[in-house]
Amino acid sequence: MTQRRPFIAGNWKMNKTIDEAIDFVTKLQEKLNDSEQVDILVAPPALAIHPVAQALPHSSPIQIAAQNVHPEPAGAFTGELSAPMLKAAGASHCLVGHSERRQLFHEDDAFLNRKLKALLKEQLKPIFCIGESLEEREAGKTFERVASQLTEGLKNISKEELLSITIAYEPIWAIGTGKTATPEQAQEVHAFLRSQLAQLYDEKTSQQIRILYGGSVKPNNIRQLMQQNDIDGALVGGASLDVDSFLQLIRFHSSI
Ligand code: PGA
Repeated sequence: MTQRRPFIAGNWKMNKTIDEAIDFVTKLQEKLNDSEQVDILVAPPALAIHPVAQALPHSSPIQIAAQNVHPEPAGAFTGELSAPMLKAAGASHCLVGHSERRQLFHEDDAFLNRKLKALLKEQLKPIFCIGESLEEREAGKTFERVASQLTEGLKNISKEELLSITIAYEPIWAIGTGKTATPEQAQEVHAFLRSQLAQLYDEKTSQQIRILYGGSVKPNNIRQLMQQNDIDGALVGGASLDVDSFLQLIRFHSSI
């Protein structure tokens, strides 16, 4: 079986000024040692991407993601940022299709597919988020929903390109609600997504792709989630805003 390196990502959403973001990564950097066994990433607000990148040493294991991108490289799109800009600012990754973008900003599958392609063109690594609503889960439509988000989102994306994408399964009913999916509920969807990837691409590729879980991940529930076969990491909102709590997530092996 392919060994997938654990990946702990913090999505700060619309939190932290530039100074607060610098302060966070500086403190985190000081506390990290050479033996951390995971990939570490923070997604600050766009304004803080460049200052945070500048504040970290080149050798830092802390990677930086943008939270959003526009599919076009430049042009008359007031208020938007393009993939080349994010790359130049110091981001290596970018979230795509977070449920808040889908719901509050009405981003649909076709638009998200364009964003994925724009990022891949710039060698930026997408973290592609999918997940069902409470109504969909209660109506027994979870698998149908995530399968269509996955298939539509990845339309015309090659196997080679897929290898730079991380998938994040985030059930909407678990985000910011304190209601985590049980490890079994999450595992069930992760295994399903991996089987979908095997169908869309092939088995070997599906085994290489990391699938993160997101939705009220905390220091006290991460270990059980990470013990599941198909859960390769976490995309964390609330619990990523505090250095000590984020560090406990990174060190999930020794978390309670
Ligand atoms: P949460 O957010 O950890 O605060 O539930 C997760 C996310 O939205 O990525």
